[in-house]
Amino acid sequence: MLKASIAVLVSGGGTNLQALLDAQARGELKSGEIRLVIADRPGIGAIARAQAAGVACAVAVRREAGFEAQVQELLAQYRIDMAVLAGFLGILSPAFIRTFGKPILNIHPSLIPSFCGKGFYGLRVHQAALDYGVKVTGATVHLVNEVPDGGKILLQRAVDIRPGDTAETLQRRVMEEAEWKLLPQAVEAAAAEIVEEKENLS
Ligand code: GAR
Repeated sequence: MLKASIAVLVSGGGTNLQALLDAQARGELKSGEIRLVIADRPGIGAIARAQAAGVACAVAVRREAGFEAQVQELLAQYRIDMAVLAGFLGILSPAFIRTFGKPILNIHPSLIPSFCGKGFYGLRVHQAALDYGVKVTGATVHLVNEVPDGGKILLQRAVDIRPGDTAETLQRRVMEEAEWKLLPQAVEAAAAEIVEEKENLS
C-alpha cells in the first residue's frame, strides 16, 4: 500500500517522537511511514529513540549556518512528503516553508492562541500558563505557516490545571493526556490525505 513518507524534526528528549514510533509499531500509522528523524544537535535523547526503532537519523545543527539548506537536502534525499515538528524548538523561515512546499505539522503544549509564538517553548509555556492563573491548558497540533504557531489548527485537547502544579508536573500531564495521543492521530490523518492525493494522481 502507498504510504506518505514522514520526517520528524526533534530538539530534545523525544517523547513525542516515541509516541509516533509506538503508534507506528502498533500499526496505527497506517497511511504513513517514519523514514527519517532529524535532530538539531548531537547527543539528544531523541536520537537514541530513533536508533532503537531502526529509523534513519541525521544531525543538522540548528545554530550553525546552512542548517535549513541541510534539512531541505535531507528531506529531498529521503523523498519526504510531510515533516513533523515533535518537540522541535526552532522556528523555520518562511523561505524554508515555501521551498519544502509540503505539509509541516507542529505540536505545541498549550491551547493556541494562548501561550504560543516566539519565546514560548517547552517548560516556559507551562510556567506562563501557571503565572497567568488559567485553570485549563492543553495541547495543539497545527499546520506550520510563516507565523510562529499561527497555522491552521488540526487537533486540540484540554487538560485541567491542578492546585500545586509546577511547570514540570503540568508538562508531564499535558504530554500524557494530550500530546502523545493527539500527535499520532493528526499525523495519521494528514498522511491519509497525502495518500489520497497521490492515488488520485496515479
Ligand atoms: C513537548 O512538550 C512539545 O510540545 C514542546 O516541547 C516538548 C518536547 O518534548 N514543544 C514546544 O514547546 C514547541 N513550541 P519531547 O522532546 O519529549 O517530545
